[in-house]
Amino acid sequence: MIEENNKVKVTIDGIMVEVEPGIPIIEAARQIGGESVPPTMCYYSKLKGSGGRCRTCLVEVSKGSEKDPRPMPKLVPSCRTNVMDGMEVKVITSERVKKAVEGVTEFLLINHPLDCPICDQAGECKLQDLAYEHGLERTRSEFPRRTFIADDIGPNIKLNMNRCILCARCVLVANQLTDHRDHGILFRGDHAEISTYLNKAITNDFSGNVIDVCPVGALTDRTARFKSRVWFTKPVNATCKCEKCSGKAVLWMKGNEIIRVTARKDQYNEVEEFICNECRFDRKDINFWTIEGPTHISDHSVISLNHYELPLPKDDPHYLIDKKEQIKTKIG
Ligand code: SF4
Ligand code: FES
Repeated sequence: MIEENNKVKVTIDGIMVEVEPGIPIIEAARQIGGESVPPTMCYYSKLKGSGGRCRTCLVEVSKGSEKDPRPMPKLVPSCRTNVMDGMEVKVITSERVKKAVEGVTEFLLINHPLDCPICDQAGECKLQDLAYEHGLERTRSEFPRRTFIADDIGPNIKLNMNRCILCARCVLVANQLTDHRDHGILFRGDHAEISTYLNKAITNDFSGNVIDVCPVGALTDRTARFKSRVWFTKPVNATCKCEKCSGKAVLWMKGNEIIRVTARKDQYNEVEEFICNECRFDRKDINFWTIEGPTHISDHSVISLNHYELPLPKDDPHYLIDKKEQIKTKIG
């Protein structure tokens, strides 16, 4: 029964949570946190219409709802399936989900090159994390891979289509954040590719955000490419006075040099506030910025190497996640 406070009860991996009716299962799982949160490669809560493309977020619904307790026969994408009152969901407690995520990971990697050693996204790549946790040690397929020549889309963005997993987040950013878009997905199925129409450059004020939402290294910042491995840089939160955006960003520093500027991200690697191209590409001089302090980096990330900061305050949204990760590491 729907509670008086209008919330519904959902149980995920045996943990019950009360959530707003009609939200996707993934958002309910995020309220629980930890390992019960399915991985996402295409869903992005800040972008309307995202999700439903990659299938990494599959979950098992073992009880549909209080009214109709039948289990759902197939695994469902948690980013596109809404919660029902009394629903019971399995993520890490389901062997079927584990097998499915392994299969999806293998498919995502079929055409993806093993070029992490030279890719700027290494260390912050969600596909790298997925492959590490769910991937096979070696490929089981031998056939020619799809290959493309890397393309410059505009003066600041490099498209390396070999790495693209066609999640469409960049297209949604262009649709929803910029006043017009010049790129999209061309063709279908195995021939589908991200393309700038007739190689038109992306020059809109907010187009640089496609780099931040790309889960892999398919879209990278040309002003920062190959300047440093991300774990050799120190991220700091900084603000600047900007008329186009909030001016809240992360500066990735090497000594006194700003190697790159990105938007700030939350614990699910989603941008908190999108930033404009001027802040991202043109403000590489420290005098533009007021430094707030070190950016919080999870202990689990390779970027946290040599990175020191004060313990998080208990009301920081990253606090609980970090505690869970620390406990997990200790238990092994
Ligand atoms: S370029 Fe990146 S963001 Fe765009 S569809 Fe490909 S993987 Fe997704
Ligand atoms: S995150 Fe749900 S299908 Fe991609």
